[in-house]
Parts: sequence; structure tokens; C-alpha cells
Amino acid sequence: MRAIVVTEQAAGTAGMTLRECPEPTPAINDVVVEVRASGWVPTEVEWPSTWTDRANRARTPSVLGHELAGVITALGYGTTGLSVGQRVFGLADWHRDGTLADYVAIEARNLAPLPGDVDFTVGASLPISGLTAWQGLFQHGRLQSGQSVLAHGAAGAVGTMVTQLAREAGAYVIGTGRAADREKALDFGAHEFVDLANDSLEDVGPVDLVFDVIGGHIQKSSAALIKTGGTLVSIVGPVESRPADGLSVDFVVEADRAQLNEIVQRVRDGRLRTNIGTVADLDDAVTALNPTDRIKGKTIIQVRR
Ligand SMILES: NC(=O)c1ccc[n+]([C@@H]2O[C@H](COP(=O)([O-])OP(=O)(O)OC[C@H]3O[C@@H](n4cnc5c(N)ncnc54)[C@H](OP(=O)(O)O)[C@@H]3O)[C@@H](O)[C@H]2O)c1
Repeated sequence: MRAIVVTEQAAGTAGMTLRECPEPTPAINDVVVEVRASGWVPTEVEWPSTWTDRANRARTPSVLGHELAGVITALGYGTTGLSVGQRVFGLADWHRDGTLADYVAIEARNLAPLPGDVDFTVGASLPISGLTAWQGLFQHGRLQSGQSVLAHGAAGAVGTMVTQLAREAGAYVIGTGRAADREKALDFGAHEFVDLANDSLEDVGPVDLVFDVIGGHIQKSSAALIKTGGTLVSIVGPVESRPADGLSVDFVVEADRAQLNEIVQRVRDGRLRTNIGTVADLDDAVTALNPTDRIKGKTIIQVRR
């Protein structure tokens, strides 16, 4: 099968190649999915799990990509709940070969059914950004209606999901980002926007929840804005700046079928819009995943049309 593979950590995304690889076989409770579309997070080659397995052994050549939509072609021993021929979407294990390939072996519990009226391209854009936003807001941040959220990177892949889900939940959303992102962040539902280079973050009133996708000094300034009992949720590495009198949570997104169902239902009924930028075929993926222009929204690779 064809797959996008990396072998050299030092080469970064420029080290990707499209090559022939053996097809995966399903382990216990796995399915094999014929991938139709794969999402992409630009920082993937920096993740330790791209390079080592769970026992910390080198696992290159490593197939990239961790979110997919496709059709099940085989079931592993003991797999229940999904069937051959079913359309699915979901989040692949960080430490296993990924979804930028013709086929992927993946635990069935990491997948949810993809309704027939949702494109594979749309399905592949949702798992990481949608689940991350959902878990950060509702599990770790325990967001309630009437609360305020400072959503960093509000025009980005995760940020547009955070903004929409928080607003739907009845929160007041202050989006942030670069000056060029103002209109997009407001269009996705932010009530107001802070240009991090030119506006003063300190002028933002006390907030109940900070959703941080940036880290560093932005996180530090934001932690100081959190109300007593509020929460800083970070997805960009160890929390370095804790709120004076609140909680901080640093988490990595997990697969969750019920949450995937909630997210795709919102897409179907128009409550949630996707933020897809570039769409390219697998043959053009290396170029598409090494863009020279600024990335705008999720890059989706159509593996098979
Ligand atoms: N822990 C987890 O489970 C998890 C899950 C998903 C993602 N992540 C991580 O979260 C981060 C965001 O992911 P994403 O997919 O949402 O990325 P993205 O689509 O690139 O969105 C990030 C947004 O934040 C903006 N931004 C970054 N630094 C900024 C700064 N200093 N000032 C103003 N705007 C800034 C970016 O603008 P520019 O493009 O111009 O920089 C972009 O609009 C990545 O580091 C990713 O690896 C973690």
C-alpha cells in the first residue's frame, strides 16, 4: 500500500516520503480501515510517539497521520460493535502507524460510525480538533452556561471548534490570534477578538476558563486573568503558568465514540462548521504538508476518492 513515511527525526516534515509499505494486519479488537481521507496536525513530527512505541523503542519507518475517515475492510479477533463495509471516522493511536496510508489498523473503540450524509473529507477534519475542544471545555474545564472563555488561536483548527462549542454551550467567548484572524474568529462565533501582537491581553476582564493552544508568555499572561475557581486548560505541553487561585489542566486528547457522535451530529444539523483549508490527494501530500504559505485551517489528504 501507499503511505507517507518518516525515518529521520532531524529532517522534520521535509523528511516525508510517499512509499510502498506492507498492509497492516488487525490485532485483537482492531479493525482495518481503507482510508478515504486523513487529517493532519502540523506539529506531528515533533511528537515523541511519532518516533517510539509505548516501550520507548524506535519505531521508524513511521506512517504519519492520526485522524481518519474511511470504510472498514477487516475485523481483528474479538472485535465487536463495528462491521466490514461500515463508514467510520476517528482518532488513531499516537504510537502506531497512522492514517496517511491506504489502510490503517486501529482499535475499534477509537472509531465512531460516520453518517452517510457526511463527506469523508469532513469526517477526517473532526477527530483531533473536535475531541480536543470538547474534552478541554466540558471534561477538564467543566464549562457552564454564562461563563467566559478566553480561546487562544481562535481561528485555528482547535480554536474554531473551541469557539463554536463554547458559544453553543452559552459561554461568552473572547478569541485571540493574529491580526489577520480577527474576521475569521468572529465569523466562527467569538464575541470579541484580541490581536495578541497589538492589543493588550491584560485588558481582558477576569475569565472562567482559558483554553491555551500557544503556551509561553501568552499562557503566563492568561493565567493571571483567571477568576477564583476558574481553570487554565492547556494542550501545548507542561503547564508552566498556574492561575493564582484556580485549576490548571494539561491534557492530550483521547478517542471517545460518544463524543465523536455528538460532534458529527452538530456538523449534520449545522451547529458546528468545519475549518478545512487545503485539500490534496495522497500523491501530492508531501507538498501539501510542507506549505510555503501560512496554514489556514486543517489540511486534509484525500487518500482515495
Ligand atoms: N494536547 C493535545 O491533545 C493537542 C490536540 C490538538 C492540538 N494540539 C496542539 O495544539 C496546538 C494548536 O493546534 P491547532 O491544530 O489548533 O493549530 P493551528 O490550526 O495552527 O492553530 C493555532 C492558531 O494559533 C495561532 N497562534 C499560534 N501562536 C500564536 C501567537 N504567538 N500569536 C498569535 N496567534 C498565534 C496560529 O497562528 P499561526 O498559524 O500564524 O501561528 C493559529 O491560528 C499545536 O501545537 C498542536 O500540536 C494538542
